[in-house]
Amino acid sequence: MTADFFSFQTVNDIRCGANYIAELATLLQQKFLARKVLIVTDAGLVKLGKMEPLLLSLQQAGIDFKVFDQVVADPPEAIVLQAAKFALDVDVVIGFGGGSSMDTAKLVAALAMQEQSLASMFGVDKVHSRRKPLVQIPTTAGTGSEVTPIAVVTTGEATKSGVVSPVLYADLVILDPSLLLGMPKHITAETGVDAMVHAIEAYTSKIKKNPLSDLLAKQALQILNSALPLAYHDGEDIRHRQQSQLGAMLAGQAFANAPVAGVHALAYPLGGIFHLAHGLSNALMLPHLLHFNLSHASREYAELARNLLSRLPTDELSQAQCFIEHIEQLIKQLGLAKRLREFAIKEADLPRLATDAMQQTRLLQNNPRRIDYDDALALYRQAW
Ligand SMILES: NC(=O)c1ccc[n+]([C@@H]2O[C@H](COP(=O)([O-])OP(=O)(O)OC[C@H]3O[C@@H](n4cnc5c(N)ncnc54)[C@H](O)[C@@H]3O)[C@@H](O)[C@H]2O)c1
Ligand SMILES: [Fe+2]
Repeated sequence: MTADFFSFQTVNDIRCGANYIAELATLLQQKFLARKVLIVTDAGLVKLGKMEPLLLSLQQAGIDFKVFDQVVADPPEAIVLQAAKFALDVDVVIGFGGGSSMDTAKLVAALAMQEQSLASMFGVDKVHSRRKPLVQIPTTAGTGSEVTPIAVVTTGEATKSGVVSPVLYADLVILDPSLLLGMPKHITAETGVDAMVHAIEAYTSKIKKNPLSDLLAKQALQILNSALPLAYHDGEDIRHRQQSQLGAMLAGQAFANAPVAGVHALAYPLGGIFHLAHGLSNALMLPHLLHFNLSHASREYAELARNLLSRLPTDELSQAQCFIEHIEQLIKQLGLAKRLREFAIKEADLPRLATDAMQQTRLLQNNPRRIDYDDALALYRQAW
C-alpha cells in the first residue's frame, strides 16, 4: 500500500555523458577546491586501464592523487579500514568501480574524519561522523550504489552487514558509459539482473514504497528490460551501455527510499559464505521469491507486467504470472538460469544459508510476505 506520508532523498548532483571522466579534474577543483584526492577501486579495473583518462585529467590540472586498488568483491572490514588510512590527508574521496569499490569509498570518506569507529556504524542511522567530499563513478550498471546511502561489507567470517545513513549519499555522481564498454558478458548479465531486482523489490517494498520510488522503479524496469539484453549481446554499443547505466541508477534511487527485501536477504549468504557474485546470487534466488511472494504481491506484479508487456490476459493474477514468466525468460536469455548445486553448494549447506538469511532482519521486514526459517530453507531447496 502506498503511504500517504513519505520522504524521498537522492544525490543532488548527477552528471552523465561519454568520456566525462576525462573532464572531471576542473569540476573537482571548482566544486571541492580539490588539491589531493584518493581513488578507491579494485586491481582488475586498474589493469584494464579504465581510469587512465581520469588520472590524466588530474595530472594535467595539477591535482595530486593516490589510488587504493585493494578492494575485493563483498569487501571485508579489514580492507575498508586499510583504505581509510590512505584518506586521512586528502580533500576528496572518489569511488571508482562496482558496488564493492563505491561502498568502500563511502565508509572511507566517513572514517577518514576519525570521529567514529566502523564497528559503531553498522545498522540504520548510526553514523554521526562527518565525512570528506565523496564522488562516485560506477563502472557497472548494477548496484546503483552511486545514489544509495548504503554500504555493504563482510563482517566476521561470512556475514554481510550494512551501514545505512544519509551521511553516505555522495556529493557528486558521474555516469560515464564509456567505462562500461567491453565489460565481460557474465558481469553485464549479473549486475544487470541485480539492478532489475532493485526495481522489483522497491516496487513491492512493504514499508516505505511511495509514489516517487514507484515511478523510478517502473521506469528503471522498462529501460533495463530493453537495454540489458542488447548490452549483453553487443557490449560495445555505447547507447545500450548508457541506457543500462541510467536504468541501474534509477533503480538505485528507488530502493534507496523503498528498500530491498527477500531476494537480497536470501542472496547475501550466498555471497558471504560461498563468494558468489552479488548479481548472480540475486539471479539464482529471484524466480523462487517471485513465486513465493505472488499471493501477497499479485497486484504489484500485475502492474509491472502492464508496464513491460503487451497482449496480456485481463485478470490480475494471470498478468502477475506473465510478469514472473517474463523475468524467468530474461534470466535464461542472460545465461543465469542455474542452480545452487552448480556452485559447489551441498544440500547439507542449506540450513546454514537459511539461518544466515534470518539475520537479515533489515531486509526481511520489507518483503511483501513474511519469510520465516522454514520458508527460507524451502526457498533454498527450490533453488538448489
Ligand atoms: N550500496 C548499495 O546500495 C549496494 C546495492 C547492491 C549491492 N551492493 C554491494 O555491491 C557489491 C557488488 O558490486 P558489483 O556487482 O558492482 O560488483 P563488484 O564491484 O564486486 O565488481 C565485480 C567485478 O567486476 C569488475 N568490473 C567492474 N566494472 C567493470 C568494467 N567496466 N569492465 C570490466 N570489469 C569490471 C571488477 O573488477 C570486479 O572484478 C556487493 O558487495 C554488494 O553487496 C551494494
Ligand atoms: Fe543488489
